[in-house]
Amino acid sequence: MNRLTNMIKRLETQRLCLNEAARLIQSVPGPVVEIGLGKGRTYSHLREILGTREIYAFDGSIHAPADAVPDSDHMIVGDFKQTLPQIPEIVGAAPVFAHADFGSEDRAADAVLASEVAASLAACLAPNSVVASDRAMEGQGWAVLPLPDGCLWPYFMYRIPAGSA
Ligand SMILES: C[S@@+](CC[C@H](N)C(=O)[O-])C[C@H]1O[C@@H](n2cnc3c(N)ncnc32)[C@H](O)[C@@H]1O
Repeated sequence: MNRLTNMIKRLETQRLCLNEAARLIQSVPGPVVEIGLGKGRTYSHLREILGTREIYAFDGSIHAPADAVPDSDHMIVGDFKQTLPQIPEIVGAAPVFAHADFGSEDRAADAVLASEVAASLAACLAPNSVVASDRAMEGQGWAVLPLPDGCLWPYFMYRIPAGSA
């Protein structure tokens, strides 16, 4: 399949999964973390669908257009290995949704990073919180959620157990 078609499928799947996550956390107050600001596409969508909810974005560098970058209190720049373990101090409350979008074309490196990201998330997310990711993750007791209808690209959604963090 060509790369344009792949990209369209990926972006549509992301939008569906983000909308589903927003629905799942609708009645649950708490902040959201966006791991991988990138070009700010998914952040911009989250900003639109989550109203006034706080969203903290993480990336190694800023390469998104200015209108898709959070203010400096909500934009954390640095390697995930250093920044994600600091989520409790930075965010100050347990996030109720984490969107992790960090995949590259190096699947082996992505798998290592996915396990590091999952460990950081497991340590900070609120009970019953939701994770959506472009790479598979494993965490103790994490339940795999079905993807919403219409997803045409591999994506991964999880519900964190009630007794975590
Ligand atoms: C696929 S892009 C994110 C796309 C973004 N969600 C969007 O909608 O535009 C992945 C991002 O993760 C960041 N990234 C990957 N590995 C990282 C790491 N170890 N530490 C910090 N940032 C990392 C890259 O800089 C890149 O911007």
